[in-house]
Amino acid sequence: MKNIILIGFMGVGKGSVAREVIKHSHYIAIDTDDLIESMENKTIKKVFAEDGEEHFRSLERKISQWLEKSVKNTLISTGGGFYKQKNIKDIGVIVLLDSPFDKIIKRIKTHPNAAKKLKKRPLLADLDEAKKLYDERLPEYKALADIVIDVTNKSALECAKELLKKVKKHV
Ligand code: S3P
Repeated sequence: MKNIILIGFMGVGKGSVAREVIKHSHYIAIDTDDLIESMENKTIKKVFAEDGEEHFRSLERKISQWLEKSVKNTLISTGGGFYKQKNIKDIGVIVLLDSPFDKIIKRIKTHPNAAKKLKKRPLLADLDEAKKLYDERLPEYKALADIVIDVTNKSALECAKELLKKVKKHV
């Protein structure tokens, strides 16, 4: 069984979908941002603020090499920029969670923990810049994806079920 790698823009719901997938399958999930926070013993926000984005990206690189060599049969949720890792295709089946930018922002803003969700993501501090990043990344996300799930107006459970159904053909 291959790994499943969840990619997609910040706030699209990768974590929520991963939690539903593990409830409804035998997969165990890991998250690249969680790994970085444990490695550095600080939040992603602090890594960006104290050590800079370049350091953060170098940690993503280290994780991508470890994933390729050592991780099997796992659902891997990733930070929104992790897809740039050169070996991503060698890690597993790539599933893109897709939704228009305004829907993603609405999803974050209407979440009960909205302030926290925005605060922990340095690249969402300026929404005009975030929109530019989204427009730049969307075609790259789509080009990489083996499977695309449109998550707009769907619950995490619905997305997880769709993922498990579609992924059967690839693992
Ligand atoms: C980033 C997305 C974040 C986190 C970091 C950088 C990005 O993860 O990895 O703030 O470059 O898009 P989420 O996609 O889980 O918000």
